Amino acid sequence: MSFSAGTMIGNCQGLRDLFKVIAKVAPTDSTVLVTGESGTGKELLVRALHSNSLRKDKPFVPINCGAIPKELLESELFGHEKGAFTHAIRSRPGRFELADGGTIFLDEIGEMELSLQVKILRVLQEKEFERVGGAGAKKVDVRIVAATNRDLEEEVRTGRFREDLFYRLNVIPLHLPPLRDRGNDVLLLAESFLRRFCDKKNRALLTLTPKARELLLGYSWPGNVRELENFMERLSILCDNDAVTVDDLPEKILREVGMDPPKRTAEAAPAGFVWPMIKDLRDNNMGLKDFLDIVEERLLREALDMSSGVKNQAAEILGIKRTTLIEKLKKRQWEE
Ligand SMILES: Nc1ncnc2c1ncn2[C@@H]1O[C@H](COP(=O)(O)OP(=O)(O)OP(=O)(O)O)[C@@H](O)[C@H]1O
Ligand SMILES: [Mg+2]
Repeated sequence: MSFSAGTMIGNCQGLRDLFKVIAKVAPTDSTVLVTGESGTGKELLVRALHSNSLRKDKPFVPINCGAIPKELLESELFGHEKGAFTHAIRSRPGRFELADGGTIFLDEIGEMELSLQVKILRVLQEKEFERVGGAGAKKVDVRIVAATNRDLEEEVRTGRFREDLFYRLNVIPLHLPPLRDRGNDVLLLAESFLRRFCDKKNRALLTLTPKARELLLGYSWPGNVRELENFMERLSILCDNDAVTVDDLPEKILREVGMDPPKRTAEAAPAGFVWPMIKDLRDNNMGLKDFLDIVEERLLREALDMSSGVKNQAAEILGIKRTTLIEKLKKRQWEE
């Protein structure tokens, strides 16, 4: 049975074993539950699963259950009939109907309310559902794939996730190991990202010095592949030389691997606020938008790191709504 991992890179034993399981599961209609810390590649894996399935020419419909306000999620999933609620001026199909014949990807399923979980269970068991305000059941032929970075067994124990749904979803569990457990894959990924970003920016390929490689391997990557990818993109913009040296690595990595960070204005945490001035923008060859983007990105990343990728918490730390956070992540393509 062959399986093409698409753009998914991984040569460590953990990923190879996973690819073997996916090769067997992809052509079936089994329900799959993908788990793994934030940024480990859950979405990429689900897309690879769909494109290796018999449904590959049919729709792949992702929905992020944590990004859509609770009141709207049911109608997003199942659609609604005209007049079902105040703004329902016309009938509209939901994602399940749009996915008919294909795969629906219920991302962040751990965020779903119990009342909706029952309705997902019904689709799994009876292959039918009802639009909001609808009078009759509709049938669909949809493969359900779900993902979460929560520990669903723990959620079941604490009563936040239905046990019956958990077992129905967890027919084929696929767990993506954190990047820190993938050994040399860190370097494989880093080099592939550098190639991609340097190409895109039309600059000579950046290489990694032996010391930089060693430090990248020693770092714990709490934000996993996404953190590595963003970091390589940053290097492709900010690194002036042809090789990435220790001096180019952020303080966070150096501290963690037990090295004293050199004093550098760009990466050093400012003591109190240092308001940027036009001169700073000019020195860095940046416009206002680039600058604000980088500031925002740094704060987003820090909040996600502080919360180990738990978006509710990160949003709280930043004082923004969870849905706003997810919009921002989407814009950076850190999110579907
Ligand atoms: N094995 C891999 N090879 C290449 N790129 C990868 C790999 N794993 C993840 N990525 C890249 O890392 C980023 C994050 O991956 P993805 O969005 O699939 O993670 P996730 O587990 O769904 O994260 P979250 O829990 O935050 O939603 C994406 O840009 C993805 O393309
Ligand atoms: Mg995801």
